[in-house]
Amino acid sequence: MKKIICILLMSLPMSSYANEEKSAGVTALSPELRSLLSQEMLALQSGMMSLIPAIISGKWEAVATTAGKIKNSYILKQKLTKAQAKELHSLLPADFIKQDQQFHYLAGMLEHAAKAAKPELISFYYSRMTESCVSCHSSYATHKFPAFSKAEKTPDHDH
Ligand code: HEC
Repeated sequence: MKKIICILLMSLPMSSYANEEKSAGVTALSPELRSLLSQEMLALQSGMMSLIPAIISGKWEAVATTAGKIKNSYILKQKLTKAQAKELHSLLPADFIKQDQQFHYLAGMLEHAAKAAKPELISFYYSRMTESCVSCHSSYATHKFPAFSKAEKTPDHDH
């Protein structure tokens, strides 16, 4: 557990804290779309939290199931009307969509690692996923997480 957390901290990107302006695209979304995004994020967070007890107790099947759900939870793919999909693509930059896809790719890799019952790979992909939450939030959610908006901020490094 301690090891997992340490790996997690070490792998947080340290270089991408300076992207305040990009949040504009997200705050310009319609209330409906924004609420869907928010729901998806909260679901992601509870999925990530539920993975920890499954990982540390070796419940690989549960890990695979949750990772699979996360992988398939694309806001960009599901639930959206055509108009909303268009809105999303016109307001959010291609890079946002790329980061979203990368995140879901990592969830798929975590699913594979869990199906193969490989603890090291499972921890690796879990930490890559967390890294990808931080990376996208640093670019597009600094209005929500102002800690990422300070270019000069250097995260504590005392582990
Ligand atoms: C591709 C970009 C992207 C990725 C990847 C991403 N997020 Fe987010 N997240 C956002 C944006 C943008 C917001 C702000 C939404 C808003 O303000 O309406 C956000 C907001 C949130 C919130 C606050 C939701 C609320 O309304 O209170 C949580 C919690 C969250 N994300 C969790 C996560 C977790 C956990 C991960 C990784 C497992 C993750 N996010 C990955 C873009 C992303």
